[in-house]
Amino acid sequence: MIYFDNAASSFPKPPSVSQEMVRAVNEIGANPGRGSHTLAREAANIILHAREKAAKLFGCTNPKQALFYSNATVAINQAIKGLSWERGDHIITTSFEHNSIRRPTAFLAKQYNVDITHIEWKGDQQLFVNEVLHAIRPSTKLVAMTHASNVTGAIIPIEEVIKYVRQQNEQIITLIDGSQTVGHIPVHMKEQGIDMLAFPGHKGLLGPQGTGMLLIEGDISLTPLHHGGTGNYSEDVDQPKKLPERLESGTLNTPGIAGLHAALLIYEERMNQNVPRETFLVNRLWKGLNQLDGVTLYGPDINAERIPIIAFNVLDIDSQEIAMILDSTYNIAVRAGLHCSPLAHEMLETMDRGVVRVSLSMYNTEKEVEKFLAAIQEIIEAYRNL
Ligand code: ALA
Repeated sequence: MIYFDNAASSFPKPPSVSQEMVRAVNEIGANPGRGSHTLAREAANIILHAREKAAKLFGCTNPKQALFYSNATVAINQAIKGLSWERGDHIITTSFEHNSIRRPTAFLAKQYNVDITHIEWKGDQQLFVNEVLHAIRPSTKLVAMTHASNVTGAIIPIEEVIKYVRQQNEQIITLIDGSQTVGHIPVHMKEQGIDMLAFPGHKGLLGPQGTGMLLIEGDISLTPLHHGGTGNYSEDVDQPKKLPERLESGTLNTPGIAGLHAALLIYEERMNQNVPRETFLVNRLWKGLNQLDGVTLYGPDINAERIPIIAFNVLDIDSQEIAMILDSTYNIAVRAGLHCSPLAHEMLETMDRGVVRVSLSMYNTEKEVEKFLAAIQEIIEAYRNL
């Protein structure tokens, strides 16, 4: 099997991820932060070490503001809906957003009459920054942006955008969805000026599903979306004021977080590679597809920076049909359709048939890329001979 669907969920994982998960289930088992016995303390240490590691790797000053959720979507919901909203408030976001930002912001628009501006990424940094700056109003409260498109792999220059947004109005809060970049390219909250960063554990980081984080830099007050047990301050009917308890009710996913911690340790080793392996492979893939007559490529070209994602279509065939043939005839896993990002497809004019998306990880090989290109070539020939 050739697995080219790492933007949906990476596979395989480093062996230490499942080893640490199994250890947490079989040897620790207890509830972190609830009780003071040895196993409860060991469980709490797993959580603490993962918090500290994530905060350090992604430039969040206070590990207590590195919060665990079940995925990036839940983290983003907490970040967006946790802010206080009033009629007439304004949000700036992009036309690349996954439904994880699009739907919570659309919910606010309906619920509170919040106004939303979607800025289109056209591959030109200066143009994009100018459009964002032009869109800022006195009522702009949040700039919420994905760091890279999960459809085309295009990277948004968040650092530049944030720098100019700050210059114009330092009260505006910035939320970055790192779902497709964390684990692939450097993300550092302090250096890039990010106020809130959400990411999943199971994509570029190569951690387990069921894990995600929200990291908060500085003093941002969020209303909890969930209320309940926090293992301390139990006498008080109100949710604790302190983080992380305030925003983390209920028993955490200790096995998942143990696996995530193992993945963070592996990431720490590979984060300083000059050019990650998947970058070489994605460039080879792009060039190979570009040479095939019958392939339409979308998104950044070979000279632009990208994450290891390529979007394309074959002749005038529905993208789901290509994905099905790749799966059933060639044992190759890709994702086709709209990828939960309809705005990106509106922009690409691919709403009718979606696109075929290949997404790589460090575990993919050159041989797999060559097999994939040969498969696409064969499919084109087969359709032409029909
Ligand atoms: N957001 C994930 C994707 O892009 C599921 O496939």
